Amino acid sequence: MTTPLPHGLPGLFIALEGGDGAGKSTQAALLHDALQAGGRTVVRTREPGGTPIGEELRSLVLDHGHGEIDARTEALMFAASRSAHVHQVILPALRRGDVVVCARYIDSSVAYQGTGRGLGAESVLQLNFWATDGLRPDLTVLLDVAPAEGRSRRTSGTVAEDRLESEPDAFHTSIRSAFLELAAAEPSRYLVLAASGAAEEIHRAVLRALAGATA
Ligand code: TYD
Repeated sequence: MTTPLPHGLPGLFIALEGGDGAGKSTQAALLHDALQAGGRTVVRTREPGGTPIGEELRSLVLDHGHGEIDARTEALMFAASRSAHVHQVILPALRRGDVVVCARYIDSSVAYQGTGRGLGAESVLQLNFWATDGLRPDLTVLLDVAPAEGRSRRTSGTVAEDRLESEPDAFHTSIRSAFLELAAAEPSRYLVLAASGAAEEIHRAVLRALAGATA
């Protein structure tokens, strides 16, 4: 099986991963502001979404009410959104030398569709390597969250749960293990942090890791 090479472009690609309610958007915002204050041009984005077609796919795959979506269709929808995102937004930014901060990337598909939906990590990885021309992040920050904690953080807001979020805790437990396995297999490209820590502390740990990675 092919393993993609580092992208070799002048920019920096940082992905934030983790279960629902892990605090990825809070960390993405903090990171965006800190890097921008340091003089970098930062593209903050998220998946599914990030392009007009990706946003359409996002509502199709996440909103309730589109009828049953089988696991392979679901995996292809996330991969299609990602392919548009990589080719229209992420690669152009990396070629310009920008920093891309992206909430969720391929690991989310491996965890949710590969493990959660039972499609298998390897086939979901290969589908996504094809969709993205093998583009991988320089650093993936995994915010590790226990399903019960993630659920209580999410439901403390007013937003209704989407199709994936409303899956039972066992589904989210398997996703948590899948993320941790991915990180354990490639420790040099991952930073794993407990999502239960204070947002500011997590943010400082991310900045320290980045300083080390780019030194
Ligand atoms: P997101 O908006 O990031 O949710 P949250 O902010 O609550 O973490 O992601 C939406 C949902 O889509 C989330 O439940 C995870 C799911 N998802 C997949 O199943 N596969 C994927 O490849 C991606 C990117 C997301």
